[in-house]
Amino acid sequence: MTPPTTVPLDGLPDRVTVYEVGPRDGLQNEQTIVPLAVKAEFIHRLADAGLRTIEATSFVHPKWVPQLADAEDLMDELEHLDGVRLPVLVPNLNGLRRALDQGADSVAVFVSATETFSRRNLNRSVAQSLEMVAPVVDQALAAGADVRGYVSMCFGDPWEGAVPIDQVIDVGNRLLQFGCTELSLGDTIGVATPGQVSALLRGFEESGTQTSSLAVHFHDTYGQALANTLTALTCGVSTVDASAGGLGGCPYAKSATGNLATEDLVWQLDGLGIDTGIDLAKLAATSQWMAAQLGRPSPSRTVRALGRME
Ligand code: HMG
Ligand code: MG
Repeated sequence: MTPPTTVPLDGLPDRVTVYEVGPRDGLQNEQTIVPLAVKAEFIHRLADAGLRTIEATSFVHPKWVPQLADAEDLMDELEHLDGVRLPVLVPNLNGLRRALDQGADSVAVFVSATETFSRRNLNRSVAQSLEMVAPVVDQALAAGADVRGYVSMCFGDPWEGAVPIDQVIDVGNRLLQFGCTELSLGDTIGVATPGQVSALLRGFEESGTQTSSLAVHFHDTYGQALANTLTALTCGVSTVDASAGGLGGCPYAKSATGNLATEDLVWQLDGLGIDTGIDLAKLAATSQWMAAQLGRPSPSRTVRALGRME
């Protein structure tokens, strides 16, 4: 593989943590249920490509997301993966108990900035969801786990339209006050553009929240995810969520498409001379393999381009 020419740009971090969400955000949205052995191999291959944080699965209600109903069995398969953080999504105390029973030491809670998605995704209002996750954060921290908080619909909602910045900042700061160690700002339906990203990050800073505690989570519906990511990096963010091969979506938000593809992100970061520890060729080969398992090509431009060069 011929790598991109490296030319740094001022004002960007030296190193970016890529938070891989393909096995969770990607596979939760598949029409068919991916076999356990394929999920396990996917995660092992991602680890082998240098990913050090891989959101493995979720302990939500199996009827709500049947694609990830094998969470317990998958965690058993991954027991021997050393040096890789494997966060799992938990919606409530029931999910946390299941995750801790499987030895999880890193969990993520999720709340919506908007009422409609909150009811559709968690069967509760925003206020009730916050009430539900507060003891989850508390008990996870007491058990020694680190806890990420997600805010969904930060930049637009398919039912409510534009989302006021203050609404997002209020929900996000509540999660940080509960004790979340990191906050990931989700563009669940991929509608954000760079000015919005900058305005939201500035808003958090003005509210007293350091950008270094923020991560960004862009779905790529309108092809804006890379531009939005670069904007976030210039604002001081250094943790970026991405999904190998651009898999992803949310079964409870039909307009959600795949996440920013990890390969597209790594091509850009390699070109900027920003260290990620990821081997792009191995990663793209993993996504080509996964695309073959799923029976359709990866939507990632980088995966396709590198595939043509083989
Ligand atoms: P509910 O129906 O309100 O649940 O659903 P409940 O608390 O009333 O309990 C009902 C039954 O479910 C009880 O069983 C509970 O024990 C059981 P029963 O007594 O009737 O036999 N139950 C559970 N079972 C297993 N695991 C659990 C669990 N919790 C309750 N964890 C609930 C509430 C939260 C469970 C449901 O709404 C749910 O599972 N939602 C998950 C939806 C989801 O996973 N969405 C996708 C992930 S979010 C996302 O993709 C966005 C993100 O990527 C960021 C972005 O892009 O913006 C993170
Ligand atoms: Mg998502």
